[in-house]
Amino acid sequence: MEKKVKRIALLSGGGDCPGLNAVIRTITKTAITKYGWEVIGFVFGYRGLYTNNYVELTLDKVEDIYKEGGTILYSSNKDNLFDYLVDDGHGGKVKKDVSDVGVENLKKDGVDVLVVLGGDGTLTSARDFSRKGVNVIGVPKTMDNDLASTDVTYGFMSAMSVGTEFIDRLQTTAKSHHRVILCELMGRDAGWITLYAGLAGNAGICLIPEIPFSVDHIVEAIKRRDEAGLPYTVIAVAEGAKYADGTKVIGKIVEDSPDPVRLGGIAKQLENELEKRIPNHEVRSVNPGHIIRGGDITPYDRILSIRYGVAAADLIAEGKFGNVVTINGDKMGYTSLEEVIGAAKVGQQKHVDPNGELVRDAKAMGVSFGDE
Ligand code: F6P
Repeated sequence: MEKKVKRIALLSGGGDCPGLNAVIRTITKTAITKYGWEVIGFVFGYRGLYTNNYVELTLDKVEDIYKEGGTILYSSNKDNLFDYLVDDGHGGKVKKDVSDVGVENLKKDGVDVLVVLGGDGTLTSARDFSRKGVNVIGVPKTMDNDLASTDVTYGFMSAMSVGTEFIDRLQTTAKSHHRVILCELMGRDAGWITLYAGLAGNAGICLIPEIPFSVDHIVEAIKRRDEAGLPYTVIAVAEGAKYADGTKVIGKIVEDSPDPVRLGGIAKQLENELEKRIPNHEVRSVNPGHIIRGGDITPYDRILSIRYGVAAADLIAEGKFGNVVTINGDKMGYTSLEEVIGAAKVGQQKHVDPNGELVRDAKAMGVSFGDE
């Protein structure tokens, strides 16, 4: 017979995004209220599991975090316990599999189920702990919205809303000064945030990773707008947007991160290139960077976080371990960690379809993607 669940542990890993706190709150409230379980949270992701650093999660601790960005459990995008940097005993560092320490700590703390809130990297470790026999449930997090198994992840709508506000606000200066202004938005190699924020904010040009662009086509699009009596253009550009030859702009390398490449800088680079090509316009660029993943959670993401959180608790109650919670259409469901991580590994992330309806709609309205 299945062992009765008495205590669960949560951890959040990878970059923070709006909705993490709301999910932590929902799982904690449901666990305590509906199921009578105790809840603890390891701090700083898997590092807390390794050092056995945790806090008790109680109703009063989580009650007010329903709209707060970030994560009260903190996060880390580096600490993979299957490949963890430890002292080598000679004053240096060496990478080692210390996952057994994590498993031991779970036993020591009386944790029956580990709930992992994270994206690809964090869920890969979740899968590996599941393979070691730990009862794991994954709750997918990414503002990039690029996870294949689920329609929409919490954090995406909130980040997209902030991105939209940036573009809205840039419109007035672009129009008043007849300028071209580029706004760079995060999203890694997926164009969801830029496409949605760009269209919602009425950007004249959207540059997304899925549709490689050329500067010539951007210049033509700006000229077309000029001729149509719109002598200003806001360009929404994804940090991962690619030139026609496939090149993209790398911002920095974060050593020791499972995915060390950080994108960034494309807007500034295009500002410099466009300035030379369209002397009749002043060109500017802004890069809100992490601002779009901070601040309050939108009402939609609060609701989504409730749905993900309750579904996660219910999966625990049903003993369906080794799975990730999903939403498809209006239905909550689940997919195995093996499948989700397999898809991420073979590059089946969810991308904008360059020939999909939304892109076609945008083009029908004259929005340029810099590809024609
Ligand atoms: O995956 C979420 C995300 O915000 C991406 O959109 C962005 O490329 C990356 O994380 C930034 O990572 P970091 O916070 O480590 O700079």
